[in-house]
Amino acid sequence: MITMTFDRHRRLRANAGIRSLVREHRVTVNDLIYPMFVEEGLKGTSEITSMPGVMRYGLDEFRKEIVRLSSLGIPGIILFGIPSEKDELSSSAYADKGIVQEAVRAAKSENPDLVVMTDVCLCEYNPAGHCGLVRDGKIVNDDSVQLIAKTALSHAQAGADIVAPSDMMDGRVQRIREVLDDNQLTDVSILSYAVKYSSAFYGPFREAADSTPAFGDRKSYQMDPANAREALREAESDVMEGADMLMVKPALSYLDVIHRIRETFTQPVATYNVSAEYSMVKAAAKAGWIDERAIVMEMMTSFKRAGADIILTYHAPDVARWLREENA
Ligand code: PBG
Repeated sequence: MITMTFDRHRRLRANAGIRSLVREHRVTVNDLIYPMFVEEGLKGTSEITSMPGVMRYGLDEFRKEIVRLSSLGIPGIILFGIPSEKDELSSSAYADKGIVQEAVRAAKSENPDLVVMTDVCLCEYNPAGHCGLVRDGKIVNDDSVQLIAKTALSHAQAGADIVAPSDMMDGRVQRIREVLDDNQLTDVSILSYAVKYSSAFYGPFREAADSTPAFGDRKSYQMDPANAREALREAESDVMEGADMLMVKPALSYLDVIHRIRETFTQPVATYNVSAEYSMVKAAAKAGWIDERAIVMEMMTSFKRAGADIILTYHAPDVARWLREENA
């Protein structure tokens, strides 16, 4: 008889029961946040061409969708607004009756237990389509921060649980924390888009949110995709400034970065499975080239394995349904 000296890894893969027992990471509905687009003055919904299944909602339809999402057990949403008017100072971003502010109130009135996050940024609200204030063709930092903080405050005053600045200006987390605290909103959390890359994967979102830059690009404020050490410095600053949670965005091409942030910080880590990651799956599925459900679940699992606690994804309603089927 030959003595075999190698390890028998296949033993723990022998059947579904054993595989389930030794599984290291699981995706649950509790991990999911659904990004939603609300448009001022829209009647009904309009589908985003490049993101099949993803809608812009008018407020009435938005309310109905909140009820549907809640019945799926999805714990939270993140809101993006499309205002009916844009101006240089992005004033609709921090208007008390702004579309995001109204949507926050609507969501909370439909389901007070839903975790309502807001994306805090200016790019949907000014004609330049940039995330900050533009002066002489440049995106100025410190004055942008004031407007970003003002926007976060108005979202929080409308009832948002969590504000999520995505503008990538320096010092905004600190300013937001100060402004919230000065207004007795000490319980509102900050989920910082701490590590946000200048990515081609945001293409379809810009159609969805009508936020394509009118000139130039976002490379002077969003991170270079080639850099990973820099991600740790960005995250460190945000933690020092008072971020409660850290986000890495995009997700799929940045699993290494999610992992590094997870290993370095103790704060909860979120990742944003962005628009083009969704569109690519949808397009390939439509062509019959991939098994959509299996691909999406594998992606979600990879985010958990990399170290994400929270997954922002347009697939959230599908994932919630599939998980429910599996558990039935
Ligand atoms: C706003 C913002 C963007 C996304 C989230 N917040 C676009 C951008 O920075 O250009 C992208 C989300 C997605 O692609 O799904 N600054």
